[in-house]
Amino acid sequence: MINLAILISGRGSNMKAILKSLKKDKIPANPVVVISNKPMAIGLEIAQKMGVRTEVIDSQGIKGQSWEYDKKIITVLEKYNVTPENGLICLAGFMRIISPEFVNRYKDRIMNIHPALLPSFPGIHAQQQAVEYGVKYSGCTVHFVDVGIDTGSIILQSVVKVKDNDTEKTLSERILREEHKIYPRAIRLFCENKIRIKDRKAFRV
Ligand code: GAR
Repeated sequence: MINLAILISGRGSNMKAILKSLKKDKIPANPVVVISNKPMAIGLEIAQKMGVRTEVIDSQGIKGQSWEYDKKIITVLEKYNVTPENGLICLAGFMRIISPEFVNRYKDRIMNIHPALLPSFPGIHAQQQAVEYGVKYSGCTVHFVDVGIDTGSIILQSVVKVKDNDTEKTLSERILREEHKIYPRAIRLFCENKIRIKDRKAFRV
């Protein structure tokens, strides 16, 4: 059984979709903790209601990557027995860039969801970038986290058609529905040991 930690910063809708799917679809992962860098994150309350322990590691005033900050996260992960041997860490709207030291400690055990078809539109406001660029299709990507920004091996993607009258809000809503489907699927693949990485590419086996 994989010990799963979910890191959030806000409303936690992906976290909720993951927690629901773990139970409903019998994914072999034990959600041991939800960690937020924001004390007021709505997702914290949702996690508690769903019976998952929560921790806050306030990042106020800590800008950019910080190994000092990330060490605090690792202390909490270790407290809940989320280790580089048995753990999976899912970033779900966690709006901090994690340090190379953290990434390397949990190599190929940290996943992220991004609201665009990477490598297009990395970084923040991905949906707005897509609308402004005028692409006809966008979507979402679940990928492993590496030391770059949204550059890690791609596990799953889902395509969403962009309508002529889409706004950032309308497109985000449709992409979010797909996020809620593919993140649990990617977690299942990981937990069932069905992902291999070769030459930076992630494959299903
Ligand atoms: C999601 O759309 C996620 O893809 C995005 O933040 C939102 C979090 O929503 N993440 C990023 O933009 C990361 N670069 P949620 O808190 O409801 O899951």
